Amino acid sequence: MNSPLVMRRARAISGLFFLISGMVLLSAGSLSAASPTAVSGSGGAVASAAPTATEAGLKILRDGGNAVDAAVATALALAVVHPQAGNLGGGGFAVVRLDGVVHTLDFRETGPAEARHDMFLDRNGNPVRNASRIGPLAAGVPGSPKGLHELHSRHGKLSWQKVVAPAIRLAEDGFRVTRRLERSISSSRELLERFPETAEVWLPDSKPPVAGSIMRLPALAATLRAYSERGPSAITEGPAAHAIEAISRKYGGVLRAADLAAYRPVWRDPIQFRFLEWEVASMPLPSSGGVILGQICDLMVRLKWEEKPRSGADRTHLLAETLRRAYADRYLLGDPASTRAKEKDLLVKTRMEKWKREISLTRATSSSEVRSSGPALAHESTETTHLSVLDGNGNAVALTTTINGSFGCGLVVPGLGFLLNNEMDDFAAAPGKPNMFGLIQGEANAVAPGRRMLSSMTPTVAWRGSETLVLGAPGGSRIPTSTAQVLLNLVLDSDELQAAVNRPRIHHQWLPDQIFAEVDALSPETVDALQKRGHRVKIGGLFGRVNAVRLTDDGRFEAAADPRGPGHAGVTNPGPE
Ligand code: DON
Repeated sequence: MNSPLVMRRARAISGLFFLISGMVLLSAGSLSAASPTAVSGSGGAVASAAPTATEAGLKILRDGGNAVDAAVATALALAVVHPQAGNLGGGGFAVVRLDGVVHTLDFRETGPAEARHDMFLDRNGNPVRNASRIGPLAAGVPGSPKGLHELHSRHGKLSWQKVVAPAIRLAEDGFRVTRRLERSISSSRELLERFPETAEVWLPDSKPPVAGSIMRLPALAATLRAYSERGPSAITEGPAAHAIEAISRKYGGVLRAADLAAYRPVWRDPIQFRFLEWEVASMPLPSSGGVILGQICDLMVRLKWEEKPRSGADRTHLLAETLRRAYADRYLLGDPASTRAKEKDLLVKTRMEKWKREISLTRATSSSEVRSSGPALAHESTETTHLSVLDGNGNAVALTTTINGSFGCGLVVPGLGFLLNNEMDDFAAAPGKPNMFGLIQGEANAVAPGRRMLSSMTPTVAWRGSETLVLGAPGGSRIPTSTAQVLLNLVLDSDELQAAVNRPRIHHQWLPDQIFAEVDALSPETVDALQKRGHRVKIGGLFGRVNAVRLTDDGRFEAAADPRGPGHAGVTNPGPE
């Protein structure tokens, strides 16, 4: 099913545009400007993508809320002040550890009932340019309105109204536009001006709002007020759902009011594994993140990664060889209902031992050799936001939420004031072709009605006695590798929290067969040594931004925002305690 409207509208905006617009801010955050130490103190900690959102979470903690209350308040504040990624029109995952018990909530978007396997292909089977990325055909059924409410109603402590209040205030009274937001809107201008409904909100006077000015969002404030009073039905039923259907129809989308009414968030069992003396809980399918994280941690211990010198080629080589295999497995994955491979089989000891035996320290495996789980290669031809919260009792929430590309599909729902996602691009929208993040994906992740598209989001909680770590990141396919490297730095290298977050990172995702490395990650000699082993190395590019908090074993709270992104970290009571 192809929408002629989308085809007509699909002007020359490359996939790269999305990647860049979604992540352009990374380059603005120079590593040399990184904070040297985490913020620390007592009472609880929050790290998120915006100062006002972190403050909203901290205020809820000070008012007696628990980690869930604070996480939901922070997420809703991000839906106002961080429109690139914060949302009501997208979805996400939460890993919660409350009184020692782990729960994970999947509020990932789903394919609308009218979604079809080949909806993004033309008659000849070729992808219709940008159809899975721009406009409402690209939108999955939003999971956030019911998801955030479900999270709070199951595990929150304060009233729903108290938790939504900071977001209402920000939207109603206004918030100061940051330089990052101004730049982000500027770099997505072409997308935002396609839809007058969006331009009216985010390009007032036909221009990006200027840094320092106050932005008020009355339509979003009214939506949040209704959400606060009536819960998710204020968005997923009645006139609001009909407004979503109407704008979807106007621009050739298949999202319908009935899809919103039918959507359900799902509580799932975490992917949980031992990592030396730490216990780690992360997100199961439909995220690939937990499995990839588990595979990386397991292999790094087996390969004694921490015994290799920090500089030099060995560490990068071993990590890249592991990532190549982990991302080849990712090809098998999708919604749990459509995935034949079992996650536990992908993490089983015998399989990890086999990988260990296969990995040579002196030679890179070609990705074409790592195809047992994937397709024959011959047949094959970024905006999200993560927040981490700890409350005074050590309860933890890792919450990653996304509308996929920066500003999602680019369309604001008139009257409701929020952007719709473009998560349909996370499906294998065009089989054998790379998606926005260069990922090539399999049949388990084909487009289907009601199906959840495979994700890379990796919200994670780890603990050792009373010591607790909460982390995760945006960054598309680089989320699991960014999250994993921070965890490796903390657990295997005993880095301080901020140092672990700041350290340069590398990435490999099976296809394309190359190591991606941050500018400061590898010396020229190391690059040379890796190339001699058979690796292709690409320096530069954009990586995940990890926001992390920690409760130390002596009861101190620490919070670290990633200098690569717009993050902001805070503790309830700053100080030496
Ligand atoms: O669920 C996923 O894996 C993607 N939609 C995440 C997108 C993302 O992180 C973009 N941000 N930088």
